[in-house]
Amino acid sequence: MKTIAVIPAAGSGRRLGTRTKKPFVLLGGKPVISYALKTLNGCKSIDAIIVASERSCIAKVENIAKRFGIDKLIGVVAGGKTRFKSVRNCLKKIGPSFDIVLIHDAARPFVDEDTIERSIAAAKKFGASVVAVRESDTVKLSDGRFFVAKTLDRRKIFRAQTPQVFRYSIAKKAFARAGSASGLTDDASIAERIGTRVRIVEGSYGNIKITTKEDMSFAKGLL
Ligand code: CTP
Ligand code: MG
Repeated sequence: MKTIAVIPAAGSGRRLGTRTKKPFVLLGGKPVISYALKTLNGCKSIDAIIVASERSCIAKVENIAKRFGIDKLIGVVAGGKTRFKSVRNCLKKIGPSFDIVLIHDAARPFVDEDTIERSIAAAKKFGASVVAVRESDTVKLSDGRFFVAKTLDRRKIFRAQTPQVFRYSIAKKAFARAGSASGLTDDASIAERIGTRVRIVEGSYGNIKITTKEDMSFAKGLL
């Protein structure tokens, strides 16, 4: 089975607030996106990589790929206004020559090979998988007005990360039927909408998404 990794990297990084776009901000002297690219490129189950980037940054991604020896990169496509549209643009480009599609945020530099391999294996077996970690705080569902409506059973709560992995046929159908998918911030929920059972793969707490300045400091500590 052939597997392709899709890397959405076309966001503006508004919450990080740097002049340089988030995927290109330096972490330990290297662009944030280079970490995930390098790890994915080294995975034996991954055959190809495609990146969605802002049109003006396509050449920048290609240069990084050259510099870091990302020989599995087969293309950089222009992203869309939302993460959903960026992923969809990649899926349009891919076509049915791949059986498995792995989606991983450019903004998660610390994903490890073992997690990637387990998420791919789960998607091959069950059709779809999401990497997630167990919640460690007690979780309160609010009534929307700062009163507790309910205390949720923590043992059943997982926090979704990426990779999120799908059989190509499932990803294609889910994204085609999603409309504009407004408000959906992950891929699994798009698949859930069409009734896909998504397998949870336990990941690691270190696989953070760099969202804010605090995340950037935390990431430096993880290097
Ligand atoms: N992403 C994308 N296309 C978009 C929006 C986001 O490809 N239109 C990508 C980002 O580049 C990132 C991942 O999706 O790798 C997760 O998104 P997020 O952390 O929200 O990044 P940004 O949207 O760039 O940040 P912000 O929401 O703070 O502006
Ligand atoms: Mg965003």
